[in-house]
Amino acid sequence: MTAASAREPFDAVDVIRRVRDARPVPHDELRWMIDAFTRGYVSDAQMAAFAMAVLLNGLGREEIRVLTDAMIASGERMSFAGLGKRTVDKHSTGGVGDKITLPLAPLVASFGVAVPQLSGRGLGHTGGTLDKLESIPGWRAALSNDELHAQLRDVGAVVCAAGSGLAPADKKLYALRDVTGTVEAIPLIASSIMSKKIAEGTDALVLDVKVGSGAFMTDIASARELAATMVALGADSGVATTALLTDMETPLGRTIGNANEVREAVEVLAGGGPADVVELTVALARDMLALAGQPDVDVEAALADGRAMDTWRAMIRAQGGDPEAALPAPRESHTVFADRDGVLESMDALAFGVAAWRLGAGRARAEDAVIHAAGIDLHVTRGARVRAGDPVFTLSTDEDERFGRALEALDGAWIIGDDGDAAAPRPLVLDRITA
Ligand code: URA
Repeated sequence: MTAASAREPFDAVDVIRRVRDARPVPHDELRWMIDAFTRGYVSDAQMAAFAMAVLLNGLGREEIRVLTDAMIASGERMSFAGLGKRTVDKHSTGGVGDKITLPLAPLVASFGVAVPQLSGRGLGHTGGTLDKLESIPGWRAALSNDELHAQLRDVGAVVCAAGSGLAPADKKLYALRDVTGTVEAIPLIASSIMSKKIAEGTDALVLDVKVGSGAFMTDIASARELAATMVALGADSGVATTALLTDMETPLGRTIGNANEVREAVEVLAGGGPADVVELTVALARDMLALAGQPDVDVEAALADGRAMDTWRAMIRAQGGDPEAALPAPRESHTVFADRDGVLESMDALAFGVAAWRLGAGRARAEDAVIHAAGIDLHVTRGARVRAGDPVFTLSTDEDERFGRALEALDGAWIIGDDGDAAAPRPLVLDRITA
């Protein structure tokens, strides 16, 4: 046994040993563990051992709830109670080419619902919504709480940076998980996401849980378990929550990057855009509006008649951006062509995400800057028939020397074959989980 501090009621080693041996952890000890870690009493080494034990042995439902509550209690709780509108948020577990927040937030807000999208920056191969929007000249991610409330009241939609006061325990724990191979633990992902969303104070939440090579969850059973855990945490805290499980084997839409994803989102808001981006935007908007008490509205009409676009322009202007300004253009580009006739049978989401990241669209360290014009434009997508010499995709960046490593990531990541079956359409929305 280790000696506990005279001033601390519990010992981190006891908590770690319990999880390591798959024994229940008393709730007050779990609460203390998170609090003591946030205060700096429990060390990074101890918390990393705890995270690894959770990854290997899991936690019970009640333990996950206590962990989530402890992370919420580590920081401030926001409230939109005085707004006079229902609030509904969306969270995606992260994917490649996932620009859905951009058309979705103004679309849902155009029905008079408030959409507070407190978002993050990209780390690793999945992009960050704030990085994408920062490619719009003048747009700023940081808003004060007063500015956030005023914009929700006047415009309805806000996409901005989550303040550092929201679930600081999660921020510290996530940084540690990132460097200790413990990101993929379902109890830790669920408590991380839901602590921030519950602390944010939204009335309702729709989760987009990605499944496939480009996602944290590569199989449907794990994705279902993650979704069910988060939906239950939402219900326990009075946040009406539903989840869609959606395919992330292949990139979403035809763009992966920042400025090019904004361009594609604007196409959707103008009533066009790729079919998969439109389908997912509409499916998530329907669920968000149903939770906000508007189950029967015509979501597509708001894209077709310009209402969603009007809200987008107002949302961008309210944060200093110019929605009509030209987006950054890349200095260098490199197009890859089909070397044979056939059908595009696969495009691996993870490999395309890594390639875009290596082009500079994402960052390796939190303090790095992204290249807003960097990314990949897909000329064809899975299932398309191509002829030898047709362009398949174009890589873009500002720094020529980045192409080599990006092309390495794409080696073997896309297949042109003869087999029509391998390229048969797959559903985008795989399942729906409700409380
Ligand atoms: N997103 C989060 O906010 N937390 C996780 O643990 C994983 C994805």
